[in-house]
Amino acid sequence: MSLPALATDIETLISAEEIRVRTIELGREITRDYKGKDLTILLILKGSFVFGADLVREIDLPLSVDFIGLASYGAETKSSGVVRITQDLSRPVEGRHLLIVEDIIDTGLTMKYLLENLQSRHPKSIKVCSLLEKPAGVQHATRIDYIGFTIPDKFVVGYGLDYAERYRNLPFVGAMREG
Ligand code: IMP
Ligand code: MG
Repeated sequence: MSLPALATDIETLISAEEIRVRTIELGREITRDYKGKDLTILLILKGSFVFGADLVREIDLPLSVDFIGLASYGAETKSSGVVRITQDLSRPVEGRHLLIVEDIIDTGLTMKYLLENLQSRHPKSIKVCSLLEKPAGVQHATRIDYIGFTIPDKFVVGYGLDYAERYRNLPFVGAMREG
């Protein structure tokens, strides 16, 4: 796949407005589910920085935010399942209710790795919120507690998601036109 020169080579799949509406709904659900609990929002860098920034502002609870950087080795558009931590959490999560915020779950291998890693740090609970899921790619079924949108098996960019580090700043989710 070649890198398109312009954002206009990208076809809108989910508009900024659709994302906004869905994020408000997810924020309400999360607010309801975590009432009275000590919540830590865990953003997976880099992809979830845009979604996470919007989502936390729709959650009406006292909460803390932390970040973990993950990268998967291998080809640019497919997860290899071999994950490495590029930046670790700033604080221990023992005894905390963790809500992981991810941009997209494709094969599920990144999430599998992360969940195993976090379990060993003994949080009180762990749930997953992903803006997107691509069911066609699943190799390891993960329970996703909050899903923004289910999308077809296309490589998508924008709203935090990249192709070769580009397009994260697009305000919508789009698919690259091929050919
Ligand atoms: P998984 O391990 O296959 O579930 O892939 C998860 C990670 O791969 C995500 O956190 C993304 O960073 C990246 N990824 C998977 N599909 C896409 C896509 O369509 N666009 C951009 N990044 C993707
Ligand atoms: Mg990525």
